[in-house]
Amino acid sequence: MGEKKTVKFIITRQDHPDSQPYEEEFELEYRPNMNVISALMEIRRNPVNAKGEKTSPVAWDMNCLEEVCGACSMKINGTPRQSCTALVDKLEQPIRLQPMDTFPVVRDLVIDRSRMFDSLKRIKAWIPIDGTYDLGPGPRMPERRRQWAYELSKCMTCGVCLEACPNVNSKSDFMGPALLSLPRLYNAHPTGAMNKDERLEALMDDGGIAGCGNSQNCVQVCPKGIPLTTSIAAMNRATNVHMFKKFFGSDHMVDNQ
Ligand code: SF4
Ligand code: FES
Repeated sequence: MGEKKTVKFIITRQDHPDSQPYEEEFELEYRPNMNVISALMEIRRNPVNAKGEKTSPVAWDMNCLEEVCGACSMKINGTPRQSCTALVDKLEQPIRLQPMDTFPVVRDLVIDRSRMFDSLKRIKAWIPIDGTYDLGPGPRMPERRRQWAYELSKCMTCGVCLEACPNVNSKSDFMGPALLSLPRLYNAHPTGAMNKDERLEALMDDGGIAGCGNSQNCVQVCPKGIPLTTSIAAMNRATNVHMFKKFFGSDHMVDNQ
């Protein structure tokens, strides 16, 4: 009988938000089609490290398990990505798991993405509807425009583009690439356009579009292929037009450009 094939993990752990991080190694029996989350589940079932010592189960975040919710983002062999779609067969070993650097650590691989959710509120990342009575079907969008908007709507606030951006860090209030792109989606919607000016104002405010240094890292890492740099350029133009209209006192609040 040959030796059993194993998979080695080096996981950065942290017991509390303020405690010192440390590394712990794990060695698991290889199973075909294993992904990083199934390996973490295995460790949770039997939390014993590579030295054979009993340890605490590793904490991580997950939800959809199909790259839709963005909750399971972490650095895998140094690259920020979703752990639910990271196949062990395609990774070099030992597999190094670390929390993303841009967000505060809650515990082990669990991070706090609140800065993104707070920014979603600032840019009014929703379509306002009055829920007190049935408004009937919303306005229809031409099919080609709907398809275009659908691509932008795939953003899952996973935080990977913020992690890749050199201008997003604990010392900066820059909202980050995803938050510059989403107003383009909501402003393109016939109902969402009612809040277009407020979204543009939020982008012109502190932490907004002026914080983009055009490094273009974001567009290369987005797992959903969102055209972030094109969106940011479009929002740059839109905020400039908005600024001129405000400056010359036109009736920008009633037109729909
Ligand atoms: S734009 Fe892409 S990388 Fe950024 S949060 Fe959305 S899905 Fe994630
Ligand atoms: S668990 Fe939802 S994206 Fe991975």
